[in-house]
Amino acid sequence: MVTVILPAAGQGKRMNHVTNKVFIPLLNRPVLIHSVLAFSACPEVDNLVIAAARSEIAFVEKMLSGVAGIKPWKVVAGGSERQYSIANALAVIPDTVEVILVHDAARPLIKPRMISQMIAAAREFKAAGLAVPLKDTVKKVDEDCFVTETPARRSMWIMQTPQAFDAAILRQAYIHAAQDGFLGTDDASLVERLGIRVKLVEGSYSNVKITTPEDIIIAEALMKKRYGYEML
Ligand code: CTP
Ligand code: MG
Repeated sequence: MVTVILPAAGQGKRMNHVTNKVFIPLLNRPVLIHSVLAFSACPEVDNLVIAAARSEIAFVEKMLSGVAGIKPWKVVAGGSERQYSIANALAVIPDTVEVILVHDAARPLIKPRMISQMIAAAREFKAAGLAVPLKDTVKKVDEDCFVTETPARRSMWIMQTPQAFDAAILRQAYIHAAQDGFLGTDDASLVERLGIRVKLVEGSYSNVKITTPEDIIIAEALMKKRYGYEML
């Protein structure tokens, strides 16, 4: 069994939009629905758990009910941090599930073929993340923004989602993080703390996360190119 967790319980502060950014329509379809349909189109995926803000649960349930072709789903209440939203989702996933994927609901351009690759990587390596090589040079700086270090670009990758795990390992990682009060910005970082090696799978630069207003323009342009204007 393969279950996908889609955290959608953020506030989208950097988007500065009236609603949660995952409800913004791209080619007439909310960001969240694009993400949910991509996973539903992947044959290896069995079901989905969506984490929604408590005040948005009913709205999300209604939205999902109105769309055909979505794999069996459940909505859980999210938490104040992405990590807590995912912990709440983990709590409702039965032990019969062997592979768990975590995917930001805010990445609507994920392709089903990439999802299949991540599931295969989770089965082979136990822990895997989709990532792309860094395009720009990165600097490490001090508190006053003076450069302290220039890490070699070829050794740096940008993490995306989905990240895919052996279910027992992901659960253990979440238990350890909670015990230690560790708050990570992705799921792989929790697994890395266990001393488990995370395999990176090369993704696509078009798998953008909708974060700031210009991402809407970029995502819509990429979607138009992919689907054509007429499709939706
Ligand atoms: N997320 C969540 N629960 C939270 C915070 C984030 O489920 N407490 C989700 C978001 O809905 C999003 C994904 O995690 O799909 C990635 O987070 P991010 O891009 O940071 O989204 P937001 O937290 O909503 O945006 P911002 O940080 O700008 O407020
Ligand atoms: Mg956030």
